[in-house]
Amino acid sequence: MATLGIIGPGNVGRLLGARFLRAGHRVCFLARSPQQARQLKKRGFWIYSPRPHFVAPRFFSVSHRASSLYPVDWILLCVKSHQVPAALRVLRTWPNAAPVLALQNGMAHWKILQKQLGPKRVLAGATTAGVCSKNSNTILHTGGNEIILPKKSAVPGRKKKDLQAWLQQAGWRLRWAKDEPSLLWGKLLLNACINPLGAIARKENGELARPGPLREILLLCAREASLILRKAGIVPFCKNPLQEVLEVCRKTGRNPNSLLQDLTRGKRTETDAILKPLLQLARKHRAPVFCLPQLYDWLSFLQHSKIYAGGRVPTPSIGRLP
Ligand SMILES: NC(=O)c1ccc[n+]([C@@H]2O[C@H](COP(=O)([O-])OP(=O)(O)OC[C@H]3O[C@@H](n4cnc5c(N)ncnc54)[C@H](OP(=O)(O)O)[C@@H]3O)[C@@H](O)[C@H]2O)c1
Repeated sequence: MATLGIIGPGNVGRLLGARFLRAGHRVCFLARSPQQARQLKKRGFWIYSPRPHFVAPRFFSVSHRASSLYPVDWILLCVKSHQVPAALRVLRTWPNAAPVLALQNGMAHWKILQKQLGPKRVLAGATTAGVCSKNSNTILHTGGNEIILPKKSAVPGRKKKDLQAWLQQAGWRLRWAKDEPSLLWGKLLLNACINPLGAIARKENGELARPGPLREILLLCAREASLILRKAGIVPFCKNPLQEVLEVCRKTGRNPNSLLQDLTRGKRTETDAILKPLLQLARKHRAPVFCLPQLYDWLSFLQHSKIYAGGRVPTPSIGRLP
């Protein structure tokens, strides 16, 4: 039995935690605040994946203080990209220096983590799972079941093999990228096309893949992003990005867009983590871009003007989960 630490008991964090617990492992959640920890400890949570499953509080530990949690075998970092620096400060007080799997979208977190923890302690990962919250103690897993890991990394092979086995026991399908750049840029390519367009148009992923103007824009973005990576000499793990963009949209068809959820809640979005690095790379390698900068400008405008704030993003009704 392994002990897994999860920083950030949000959508992704609770899905991972619930699956580890079901596979018979021990889970410690590190929460952002005493209130968040208290609520989780008091109420537990429901997860629909797609069948309902209640995760009772007696099965896991949770605290907002890393020092009061158990030593763990691996830590899974499940906070938003811009929350990584704060999470790192707490991470230092964890009773042992376990390796960390970072599951953030985008690139912004990666340099910070490598610099602060060292390349032997941090592994880049990504998930194709779509997860959203129905209410404060119910999360919906709307599709996608892969965790992508890099074949080549500085983390000791034995530790990586353990993690690999525990993830598989927890029901994840593992997919391999050649190395960390291929993984991070490949996932960024998919996110940079799908998430911003869905948020601006206020459409679910599935609608973007249906024949029509939005699908044409989606594919234009995917072509631009692929060209940028090609010019920079980066080979993304997805061999056919255009096809993969459409496939991800279909597989997570009912997933409410996470950028849109943040915009409607007036929260900071991950736009800078997802689109900015791609645009900087385009500038550096003189790649012609038209659609992606427009998406960036629109999202920045929406974030600052707050015109979507207070709106509702419909979450799928439970009966319609795949
Ligand atoms: N959701 C998806 O479908 C999905 C899919 C693939 C990848 N991802 C990536 O996974 C990451 C997490 O996404 P998410 O949807 O799970 O976000 P989320 O629901 O907002 O979860 C983040 C959680 O971390 C907590 N947190 C913030 N700062 C913390 C700290 N210093 N210490 C401990 N906990 C802290 C947050 O608390 P508060 O809410 O109180 O701030 C929240 O509960 C993102 O980078 C996202 O791009 C998400």
